[in-house]
Amino acid sequence: MNITLNNISMQFAEVTAVDRLSVTIEEGSLVSLLGPSGCGKSTTLFMLAGLYQPTSGELYFGEQLMNKVSPEKRQIGMVFQNYALYPHMTVLKNIMFPLKMAKVAKKEARESAIAMAELVQIGHLLERKPSQLSGGQQQRVAIARALVKKPKLLLLDEPLSNLDARLRLEMREEIRRIQQTIGITTVFVTHDQEEALSISDKILLIKDGKYQQYSDAREIYEYPQNEFVGRFLGNPPMNQLPAVLETNKQFVRLEDTDQRIAITKQVTHEVEPQEQVIVGVRPEDLFVQSENEQGGITGETMMVERIGRDNLLNIQVGKRKIRAIVSPDTEVTIGKKVTLGIRPGYCHLFHADTGESLLMDEPIHSALKERVTC
Ligand SMILES: Nc1ncnc2c1ncn2[C@@H]1O[C@H](COP(=O)(O)OP(=O)(O)O)[C@@H](O)[C@H]1O
Ligand SMILES: [Mg+2]
Repeated sequence: MNITLNNISMQFAEVTAVDRLSVTIEEGSLVSLLGPSGCGKSTTLFMLAGLYQPTSGELYFGEQLMNKVSPEKRQIGMVFQNYALYPHMTVLKNIMFPLKMAKVAKKEARESAIAMAELVQIGHLLERKPSQLSGGQQQRVAIARALVKKPKLLLLDEPLSNLDARLRLEMREEIRRIQQTIGITTVFVTHDQEEALSISDKILLIKDGKYQQYSDAREIYEYPQNEFVGRFLGNPPMNQLPAVLETNKQFVRLEDTDQRIAITKQVTHEVEPQEQVIVGVRPEDLFVQSENEQGGITGETMMVERIGRDNLLNIQVGKRKIRAIVSPDTEVTIGKKVTLGIRPGYCHLFHADTGESLLMDEPIHSALKERVTC
């Protein structure tokens, strides 16, 4: 059963929490709703759950229009950030609870609950109370409880936010494993880009209730459709350098400097020479060039910081700081000049006003002989 949102909006008085969202969630996939706090993720999830009715637009489960179908009739399971377990009930009773409400015979309910507890690996904790469990174990109980009625759709609203960093990593792998084991269509809300990039089949990035991009992890990271998408994903974030597009759309000149970067891809018609653009380069796509090489973005090394196995450089170029992640063997000296190259094909160009991506996929081969290319 695919899930289709067609031009869905949700208005709360003067706040448009969700603004004409259209997207199809494919059966059996895990889709993350990603975006900054307040961008409309939970509201979207609550519309899928039937807790809110969209102000306009249509929601379909398969062919069926769902706008007015009550939550109980939607066959969904839901997990929240704060687990919401019943503190006075044992783990087993917590998991059995939805079946008890549905008046399933006790023996059958018990068997289903135990099977679900095994799946989420808490089969040995059935007689404990929630207060006797760790955060990760409590979240496993909540997941088992959400799945025990064999829903068609699993909805997770920031389920890992209350866990410490290590447990968060473990539980996100667990959620992916459980989801793939039973093949359930899942919508996972998070504001954490790394979480979304690691577990999703597709990521829907939202800003101010509006669609930004809907792609798999690799595509959304490597081909951001606009400047916001490029900036939101990646840590440290993409460098953004204001520039002007030059004659024939074959070069950009960086603001405040006379440094130029050649463009290797076709530029769209949405921008003309002399217009303002933003060059976007991820820190990991920069490298330090040797002194006798031509071209490059030249600046002054301000800071070198060891981050895990790499070095993070802060380079001052004109009025801007550029971050580069380089191998620790790279020789740089604080206060000295350094020239950066860009990994060919890994440079982005955005319109300064609209933020839209301006590069098409066809490369221009004549530009490839330039040293620093975009
Ligand atoms: N019940 C509500 N009444 C009024 N405004 C709401 C309500 N729920 C959410 N909002 C507003 O809608 C916007 C989106 O909220 P929400 O979906 O909770 O964001 P997110 O989950 O992405 O953090 C926010 O501006 C929030 O203040
Ligand atoms: Mg929320």
